[in-house]
Amino acid sequence: MALWRSSVGKKAVMAVSGLVMLAYLVAHMLGNLKVFLGPDDLNGYAHWLRTIGQPVLHYGWFLWLARPVLVAAVVAHGVAAYQLSRRDLKARPQQYVHRRRQSTYATRTMRWGGVILGLFIVWHILDLTTLTVNPAAEEGHPYQNIVASFSTWYGGGIYCLAVLALGLHIRHGFWSAAQTLGVNNPRRDRALKFAANALALLLTVGFVSVPVAVMAGLVR
Ligand code: HEM
Repeated sequence: MALWRSSVGKKAVMAVSGLVMLAYLVAHMLGNLKVFLGPDDLNGYAHWLRTIGQPVLHYGWFLWLARPVLVAAVVAHGVAAYQLSRRDLKARPQQYVHRRRQSTYATRTMRWGGVILGLFIVWHILDLTTLTVNPAAEEGHPYQNIVASFSTWYGGGIYCLAVLALGLHIRHGFWSAAQTLGVNNPRRDRALKFAANALALLLTVGFVSVPVAVMAGLVR
């Protein structure tokens, strides 16, 4: 497809897939805050997620319908990012001499941040979805699994680090998406930058509050 082959097309794919993941993350962060209301609330919420669409859908089907959308967004975002950065490297006349100067701080942060987030998502699924690496591994009891995971230094540490990377990634990514999709103009730029910063801050604080609360002993 010509659109996918062009750099503009790949950037558009990154913008749209990024916004899909962002919408998911806002909902996920708000849902996670139920941890502060106690085990019954959070576990009840996780159970409710599986009943969405009933009786048309069976128990859990809604999640299975949402997963392919998220996987497609993650894969499209990662593949487009990889291909764009390959193009970027190839287009440089003197690859080694000017390499450091040519990629900006933001570009490097986005690349490293993206790799860290990709690895984190794998860890996170093994930890809280399949429960493979979770110290409690209680099926149907996400509250207990979250507390167990964040009670180890490495568990809490991984989440805090990943959430910081996520905040930086969204701050720049949201602004990039606005430019790619052409919604920015001199009048809107300030508002869009404010929205990017506010969203990044909201998600960072909302997500990080859970591991921090567990590590501080406020949630146990
Ligand atoms: C730091 C606080 C976080 C907590 C406490 C948390 C908790 C959870 C839990 C308990 C689940 C399983 C839900 C269930 O099966 O009912 C889950 C799933 C998921 N989380 Fe998080 N999460 C956090 C951060 C993140 C971040 C930062 C991302 C993405 C960058 C993320 C992406 C996902 C995804 C994609 C799934 C769905 C996996 C599936 O298909 O079941 N989470 N999370």
